[in-house]
Amino acid sequence: MEAVRLNAAEFIRARLPLLPVPGIPEIVLHKAVPASGLGRLAAEDAAFGSPYWAYYWLGGLALARFVLDRPEVVAGRRVLDLGCGSGLVAIAAMQAGAASVLAVDVDPYAVVATQVNAAANGVAVEALHADLTEGPVPEVDLILAGDVFYDPEPAARVTPFLARCRAAGIEVLAGDPRRAPLPVARLRGLAEYRFAETDSGVMRVSEVFAFD
Ligand SMILES: C[S@@+](CC[C@H](N)C(=O)[O-])C[C@H]1O[C@@H](n2cnc3c(N)ncnc32)[C@H](O)[C@@H]1O
Repeated sequence: MEAVRLNAAEFIRARLPLLPVPGIPEIVLHKAVPASGLGRLAAEDAAFGSPYWAYYWLGGLALARFVLDRPEVVAGRRVLDLGCGSGLVAIAAMQAGAASVLAVDVDPYAVVATQVNAAANGVAVEALHADLTEGPVPEVDLILAGDVFYDPEPAARVTPFLARCRAAGIEVLAGDPRRAPLPVARLRGLAEYRFAETDSGVMRVSEVFAFD
């Protein structure tokens, strides 16, 4: 894990340019471009999964915009960024005044990307490689879940976990462009945004929901 971490951090800094984020001018992120050659990382590691961490996601964009526009949502609070990917939401929460942010992902490369991106934006984020969904409720005040309902399998793990967290009194906000596995019955819309897709420039809607 340590070797992966070092090589991946070096690779991300060298091969994924640091670019402004659409609709979030406060933050820059290392993003994959065709010349990045992510396949080289994949070739060196049989466990290399989908590099979600190397791209923007509509749900994360909406949550990041939400907390930056409404810093009172995170100010002084202990925040968990569940499924942190690039770390976009964690970085936005720290910039908006969170007391601390724990960024968690099941993909070790996402943990590395979050550490590298947090450093590039000058904020301190604790990044952890873990699946918290079957463990105890975390000691945080607020969970931010950006685009974690992207497939039925993660949605089926994350939804009951978030329900347990809610029952324990933790506030939960989700960002999502209404993908099919979204547990809409549990969600209450709070805000709606439009972001330009990176390649096509097509505007896409993404929303922030309270998980009730
Ligand atoms: C579509 S990406 C979104 C990343 C980021 N939140 C954003 O919006 O930019 C979903 C992320 O959730 C992570 N993930 C999936 N299941 C998870 C779980 N049980 N616990 C933590 N992370 C998980 C994936 O590895 C992936 O990085």
